[in-house]
Amino acid sequence: MLSHEDNELLTRVGGGAPMGAYLREHWTPAVRSERLVADGAPVRVRLFGENFVAFRATDGRVGFVDEACPHRGASLALARNEDCALRCIYHGWKIDVSGTVVEVPSEPADRQADMADKIAIDRYPAREAGGVVWVYLGVHGDPPPFPRLPYDGLSADHVRVLAAETHCNWLQAVEGTLDSSHVSILHQSWLGSSSGSLGETAQDSAPRYESDETGYGIRFAAIRHSGDDHLHVRVTEFVMPWTAYIPTGDEDRIAIIGTPIDDEHSRQWFIRWNDDHPLTEDTDTHFWYHDLTVAPDDFTALVRGKDNWGQDRALMSDGHFSGFTNLVLEDVAIQESQGPIVDRSREKLGTSDIAVVKTRRLLLGSVRAHENSGAVFGRQDPLAGPDTAGVAMTIAATEDWRTTASGEARYV
Ligand code: FES
Ligand SMILES: [Fe+2]
Repeated sequence: MLSHEDNELLTRVGGGAPMGAYLREHWTPAVRSERLVADGAPVRVRLFGENFVAFRATDGRVGFVDEACPHRGASLALARNEDCALRCIYHGWKIDVSGTVVEVPSEPADRQADMADKIAIDRYPAREAGGVVWVYLGVHGDPPPFPRLPYDGLSADHVRVLAAETHCNWLQAVEGTLDSSHVSILHQSWLGSSSGSLGETAQDSAPRYESDETGYGIRFAAIRHSGDDHLHVRVTEFVMPWTAYIPTGDEDRIAIIGTPIDDEHSRQWFIRWNDDHPLTEDTDTHFWYHDLTVAPDDFTALVRGKDNWGQDRALMSDGHFSGFTNLVLEDVAIQESQGPIVDRSREKLGTSDIAVVKTRRLLLGSVRAHENSGAVFGRQDPLAGPDTAGVAMTIAATEDWRTTASGEARYV
């Protein structure tokens, strides 16, 4: 259980809220790279309760600017994208890829250069990695070092990125990735049919947690019984402030990132990759992604307007536990069903919620430290990050998961 004040501190991100200020100090995934075409349409992106547009300039570079034109606020989503810049279609002001106003044709010719020079605007560094455009929206000048991303540098066919806009606060999205006990219940119809480790996860709905704090977040192990003398262990790496590397159940790896659109909406990123070979068609038909790749920029659009997020009662009558035709939609439906911002002062938490509790504690400590001293947890070391992604493994009851996870265990 959390006090109302702490819940507000953890969840509110807009209008200068402390959590928004803290989160903005991190490189933030904004839009899929593929969505931006040179000289193509600018794309609206809402983050932290503010509206921006992303665009790809003539030379391939990416610009990220306020949606409102600095002149009189017309939307730059309507702008022409040409000559390595956006040109507002209202009075023709031109904003280049760095965010600088370079032409103001609405002014008399002898005043144009001087006026363009004097217009002060916010600049937002943008960078592409892993098929995603990342932006820095902090208010303290230079961006932090770019984080170590295990999928950065792989060729495009090794990485698949999906995004979803969910109608709930960002922390509900993050907590959903760290809560292992729901996996055996909510996802049982998908996992029960899987071979290997995910099938084992379905066997024990009451995992015991162990965790280690790391320089970048927390490593959680959800430990389940597997027969009389073995344990099934799912190790999730949480990287502050919003990334979870979770075990996939196969040799691909996945990162899930929950970022704030505003206080009551979040954008979730599902980045799946394989270090060794291109992803196969199976990736698109796998129950993680099944049916969702047709809407890669917001797959929740597929269930908008449907009763109960498309839950199928006939499917349930036929034996499916949740009635959802996709594992990820099960998560989205649950997170949105908790309400725009879940009231954590009314929760009744148990031992299986320990990962959620520890993560809240770390986030609360970090947002307060940032408020008090400007310190940004996890940002001191640009190479900070897990050596492995999420790991699932079955070990002898006498074994220590820490030793095995750092040894030859892979992402199975
Ligand atoms: S509002 Fe954009 S140029 Fe005037
Ligand atoms: Fe889930």
